[in-house]
Amino acid sequence: MAKNKTAYVCQNCGYSSSKWMGKCPGCGEWNSMTEEFIVEDKHPAGAIVSSADRGNAVKLSDIDSKQFTARISTGIPEVDRVLGGGYVPSSLVLLGGDPGIGKSTLVLQICGKLPAGKRVLYVSGEESAPQIRMRAQRLGINNPDLLLLSENSMTVILACIEREKPDFLIIDSIQTVYSDDMSSSPGSVGQVREVTGLLLKLAKAAGITTMIIGHVTKEGNLAGPRVLEHMVDTVLYFEGERNLPFRVLRGVKNRFGSTNEIGLFEMTGEGLSPVENPADAMLTHRDSNISGAAVVCGMEGTRPLLTEIQALASKSPYNLPKRTVNGTDMSRVGMLLAVAEKMLHLPLWEWDVYINVAGGIRLTEPACDLGMLAAVYSAVKDVPLERGAVYCGEVGLTGEVRAVSRMDMRIMEAVRTGFTAIYLPAANYNKLTDKQKREFGSVELRPVANVKELF
Ligand code: TYD
Ligand code: MG
Repeated sequence: MAKNKTAYVCQNCGYSSSKWMGKCPGCGEWNSMTEEFIVEDKHPAGAIVSSADRGNAVKLSDIDSKQFTARISTGIPEVDRVLGGGYVPSSLVLLGGDPGIGKSTLVLQICGKLPAGKRVLYVSGEESAPQIRMRAQRLGINNPDLLLLSENSMTVILACIEREKPDFLIIDSIQTVYSDDMSSSPGSVGQVREVTGLLLKLAKAAGITTMIIGHVTKEGNLAGPRVLEHMVDTVLYFEGERNLPFRVLRGVKNRFGSTNEIGLFEMTGEGLSPVENPADAMLTHRDSNISGAAVVCGMEGTRPLLTEIQALASKSPYNLPKRTVNGTDMSRVGMLLAVAEKMLHLPLWEWDVYINVAGGIRLTEPACDLGMLAAVYSAVKDVPLERGAVYCGEVGLTGEVRAVSRMDMRIMEAVRTGFTAIYLPAANYNKLTDKQKREFGSVELRPVANVKELF
């Protein structure tokens, strides 16, 4: 019998080495290498070919792709939108997010809405069946085809799947399930990879649509960066501030659709409910006259999203002023502050600057630059910005305001939600037809070519 091989695997990034090292060469983390048994995988995940087809090349036009076009609705339109129109049968979906953000709640709600007659097996390694039942009752879920299993061992889980032959399988969470073939503890990189590999093979071979829940680590990665993401078909992240009710479901990877759609939810006493009108939910201070708040219109996939960016500036007691950023990209803010210093002559070296995106949303689109700059300007000068104005535009290093995509949709959203003015890149303005300008009648269009014109 072959001797069991072991290797030292970094629990942070999955780097593997035959000898122990104090510092991982892969990610630079200290003391992250632990010894794990290596189970040789002769059928690597991803090679989903039946043995008859093996080695035979096939003409593109002869391949049957129908199984990927038939979608199964999750019953929750916001989730369907992120998945690209619903579940693809026998796909493997990974749902990641911080502990306590609402992953189990969302998945249980999906279980309650799946088409009747589809057998669903919900495996929980974290909660007991009565606990899940209690939660289901609170959420008003009574799907007669929903089976619960509270278990951690993959051997037992596989036996149960064999018996029950479910159409849908939920694993909550991947970090609590272990394979008996490996000696390392549940949640280690080796275990997580092994269990996901088993589930992937099962999903493809038995045609079970599978959803795996994964907690993110304190660095914000799913059980060590990227060890799972390349194996599964779809990766979704559930995000939000724990103390705020809003949650965003975001596609990070999708083999069957685009990844720029988001789903918006609100956590209520009766579980998660979809946010139909994001503008109402996100814009809180629209009626008050405060300085340091600007409304921007970002695009999330095909959906415009009006959001408020808040800036606070306070005189810094330090030589090196503080920059604190929440909900957007730190380096982007750094660049904008430099532009503000140089082009708008703001003495930002004297000011601590705090930036926050309201509602726990993450804004990373350059189109939000102009709004961010406006918020900072307003905060430092302590003058409120005009009420009812939206700011749209990417800001370049010389202070030029650059064109952004889908400007018409952004303006339409501002019109729909009752804003009265929109600052937009001159390049975008020049492209609008007279007809469009008439259509946008209720909102005043104010083109800007350089940030200096704005203030
Ligand atoms: P949960 O789905 O258990 O989070 P996760 O699986 O991501 O760890 O949800 C956790 C939080 O959601 C919990 O702190 C309470 C809150 N919650 C509600 O506010 N309303 C509800 O109806 C439910 C079920 C949970
Ligand atoms: Mg949970």
